[in-house]
Parts: sequence; structure tokens; C-alpha cells
Amino acid sequence: MLWIISCFALVTSAVGIPAYLGPIHNIVNGGNSLSAWPWQVSIQTSRGVHFCGGTLINNNWILTAAHCSVRVGYHRVVLGEFDRGSDDKAVQIKTIAKVIVNPNFSKKNFSNDVALLRLSSPVQITTRVSPVKLASSSTNIPSGTLCVTTGWGRTATGQGPRILQEATLPIVSTAECMRYWGPTRSITDSMICAGGSGSSTCQGDSGGPLVCDSYQVGIVSWGTNDCRDNAPGVYSRVSFFRQWIDDTVSYNSA
Ligand SMILES: *[C@@H]1O[C@H](CO)[C@@H](O)[C@H](O)[C@H]1NC(C)=O
Ligand SMILES: *[C@@H]1O[C@H](CO)[C@@H](O)[C@H](O)[C@H]1NC(C)=O
Repeated sequence: MLWIISCFALVTSAVGIPAYLGPIHNIVNGGNSLSAWPWQVSIQTSRGVHFCGGTLINNNWILTAAHCSVRVGYHRVVLGEFDRGSDDKAVQIKTIAKVIVNPNFSKKNFSNDVALLRLSSPVQITTRVSPVKLASSSTNIPSGTLCVTTGWGRTATGQGPRILQEATLPIVSTAECMRYWGPTRSITDSMICAGGSGSSTCQGDSGGPLVCDSYQVGIVSWGTNDCRDNAPGVYSRVSFFRQWIDDTVSYNSA
């Protein structure tokens, strides 16, 4: 039943099929999303098809998942978007100058599922477009902590939502997450799990954020196709990569 989030169809397809996470349950829409998630970006094909999420981490760089397979020249980043159907003046569209995939990313088990995108030109920081704060290397979020994930993830039944969706879900301990996924899927140090209790179990799009107390702690990576209530979703653990992120950004910004 495992259906790797954002799917290998995306990875292997030349035309870039949209990432797909299954339905998002218990979504809270609303006006507050308009300004609450100014770091959320939509990664799109050059024809404007959304396929992954990501976050703005400074005015030149986007954090996303390695398995989104973003490519220079084929894909672009849209910032300040909220309602994909509206012609919104807050939106900034950027091409990508460089994609840096974590060298330890494994397509086999999805460990180290993280990538950095350097934009071709810096974004303008506004109330609708501003960077997220990243969890520090020493951050350790207790299980049960309620966090929020956001995205334009598609639903199982059809089109992706126009309005940015958000879902609240608890952090799940690695031990519990391992018990759920069993020996077939390895939960590594580079992963953090959330969801799997109650009804708020689904993620936003691959590459998008898991945010706890206004710090990004996770990057949407993989889970089940049907967002079962008892299935914890798996995120790349930002604290594990914080050093790599900082080093890579500074090395490639000079
Ligand atoms: C990749 O993994 C190896 C072995 O765990 C580690 O020593 C190295 O620092 C990692 N590289 C990066 C860029 O994280
Ligand atoms: C994941 O796969 C890589 C090879 O792609 C391997 O080096 C690594 O040990 C695997 N990690 C786990 C925890 O199975």
C-alpha cells in the first residue's frame, strides 16, 4: 500500500506529473493562511503546473525534497501564492539558477530527501513573501507536539485545491514510527514522523514544510497513498540537515 509521496511517476516522467500526496484531511482554510505561511512556495513546471512545495529560507534559496527532482531550465518557483486561481499581485515568479541535492539522498529508501534551490535573482521580501526560520541542529521536538503542514497537495479524487491548505498534526516518536512502518521501510536519523493519530494525518505537497512553533522542522517526504488515520507521515528532519544547509548556502552564495 505504500505509495511514495510525490511518486516516482514524477521522478521518471519527462513531462513532470504533479506530485500527489493523497487527500488532506481536516484542513483549516481561512484568511489567516494568507499571511501565516509567507515562506510557502509552489514549484511548478514552466507551463505553470504545480508539482511540489518548498520553503523560502532566505532571499535567494528554497528548501525542498530531493525526490521532487527539480531541474534548472524546466522548473520555476512561485512565491506569495495563496489562491492559485487568482491573478494575485503579491506573486513573484523566479527561475532557478542551481539545484543542489544532498549527496546522500537515497532513491531506494528516501533517506536524506533534501535539496536546495538557488534562485536566479533574489526575491523581494514582503508581508506575503518572507523566509521561514529553520530548526537548529540541536532541536528535538517531543512527540505529541502539534505542528502544521501546508501545501496545495492534490486530493485522491481529483484536482489540487486552489487555496493553500493546512493541517495540524502531532509529532510521532521514531520508535512508534518504526513500529508502524515495520521492517519494510527504514526510518533513519534523517527522518521525523508526524500524524498517525486522530484524523489529521495527511501532508501537504512533497517538499513543503512541517512547522512547529514557527520553526520548520520537517520537509514532506513520504507516506501512504490514502492518508490512513493510523499512518504517520515521514518528513526529512531539518535539524539533521541544518549544518549541511548552512554550509551549502554559504559556500554557493559567494
Ligand atoms: C553523507 O553520509 C556520510 C556517512 O554518514 C557522512 O559522513 C557525510 O557527512 C554525509 N554527507 C553530507 C553532505 O551530509
Ligand atoms: C538507504 O539506501 C542507501 C543506498 O541507496 C544505503 O547506503 C543506506 O544504508 C540505506 N539506509 C538504510 C537505513 O537502509
